[in-house]
Amino acid sequence: SWTMKGFIDEAVETIRRQVGEKGRVICALSGGVDSSVAALLLHKAIGPRLQCIFVDNGVLRQGERAQVEALFVDRFHVPLKTVDARARFLDKLAGVTDPEKKRKIIGREFIAVFEEASRDIQDAEFLAQGTLYPDVIESVSYKGPSVTIKSHHNVGGLPETMKLKLVEPLRELFKDEVRALGRELGLPDEMVSRQPFPGPGLAIRVLGEVTEAKLDLVRRADAIVQEEIRAAGLYKEIWQAFAVLLPVQSVGVMGDERTYESTCVLRAVTSVDGMTADWARIPFPILERISTRITNEVRGINRVVYDISSKPPATIEWE
Ligand code: XMP
Repeated sequence: SWTMKGFIDEAVETIRRQVGEKGRVICALSGGVDSSVAALLLHKAIGPRLQCIFVDNGVLRQGERAQVEALFVDRFHVPLKTVDARARFLDKLAGVTDPEKKRKIIGREFIAVFEEASRDIQDAEFLAQGTLYPDVIESVSYKGPSVTIKSHHNVGGLPETMKLKLVEPLRELFKDEVRALGRELGLPDEMVSRQPFPGPGLAIRVLGEVTEAKLDLVRRADAIVQEEIRAAGLYKEIWQAFAVLLPVQSVGVMGDERTYESTCVLRAVTSVDGMTADWARIPFPILERISTRITNEVRGINRVVYDISSKPPATIEWE
């Protein structure tokens, strides 16, 4: 009979057989469940011959980079190189408003940064990917034909010159099996049950041009959303909950002063697979708390609206 422990033993054997006695493996950590589980499984199989790379692209959520470092370096002692590429990504995104262009830029830049970082890793012959079974059969759909989970999120599309052989230890698993595997490998529940976060990150949650100032607003609003959704015990029943910053300013009032500031959308949906979704019926007191906190704590946002559209015809993301 199929057990998680049996799967782990078998996967470890398979990895050792493929990678050999000396082979070194590079793995891109995204902060998500799949790459985290893949990395831990690889680490179990080959220990320090695994080298993880985490790219800080400047469009991550609050505390994300620190969380990845705390988990992998401090807790699991996995070799991890963090590349601070924030300035580089923001530079490339300057003046760009088209969502698909943003995706392409982020995908392309990620590959360039990843390739540069992996050049310094001597003798690496293998690249680990957290490809799941649904990725293999390509049932996961994304916005543009040019951006799939493979060409960005899971680091496919690397230049020919890298000549790395793929190691894909999760390619027979579905998401719920990957979560179970992660738990078995000791990943904390906050990581295992994480809501999906798109590869292009906050760049597609700042509508229109992405600037550092706007990223700062959406990041702080989003942190409040994450905190309150967790505190309300709704995190697991909601597929995704997040903040979107609109390129719209509206009139408000603060004390005796008139304000003219940004509008923030709260987007929260329930879904089974992300293909269709319904807006989440979050209780009014929680909506109230989120709105009050955002307008009180995030200077520059004076209005919060709740998105009550389902998918279709709307999508989960706004870009
Ligand atoms: P939409 O907005 O199309 O999103 O309803 C469906 C799911 O896909 C995620 N998403 C992305 N994930 N790169 C990703 O890695 C992307 O470019 C991308 N666009 C959307 C979205 O967060 C939702 O879970």
